Amino acid sequence: MNTERISQHWQGIGADKPALVNAFYQRLFERHPRFRPMFPEGIEHQMEKMLDTLALVAENSDTPNAIHPRLRRLGEAHRRYELSEADFDDFIDVLIETIAEFNSAQWCDACGDAWRQALQQVVLPTVREGMH
Ligand code: HEM
Repeated sequence: MNTERISQHWQGIGADKPALVNAFYQRLFERHPRFRPMFPEGIEHQMEKMLDTLALVAENSDTPNAIHPRLRRLGEAHRRYELSEADFDDFIDVLIETIAEFNSAQWCDACGDAWRQALQQVVLPTVREGMH
């Protein structure tokens, strides 16, 4: 999984983390306007939660059991949106693309692979579990 790589790159983003989350939602809504109406108009609160979740994943992707309960609850919170496979793919692509642009000096192909694996192999299965 190479959690160390994810964690190092994440730490290196430093005080720009809120700006990253902001850039992510802007890009997500620009590229996939179908998502915008699902969210309330003001999404500051949502951004904070997203930030917490990314930090959780960045620091714990090699110990999935430790974050299982929180990810499962996250899945429960997503149940009502009836998200498809394509929705998750689009979401994850934009997320990784945005993360790569912050602290780009420390970015590398392996960082992208590690984030993708963490999101697809740790986050998604547990979120899905909570969605059912
Ligand atoms: C890796 C996948 C995802 C992660 C890590 C994630 C993360 C989060 C987090 C942390 C929250 C806040 C939950 C809470 O209030 O307790 C949330 C809410 C939400 N997510 Fe996701 N999400 C993911 C996938 C998606 C996808 C694909 C969509 C489709 C657009 C989506 C749409 C939403 C919506 C609409 C809310 C509720 C916003 C609100 O009412 O405030 N999420 N998500």
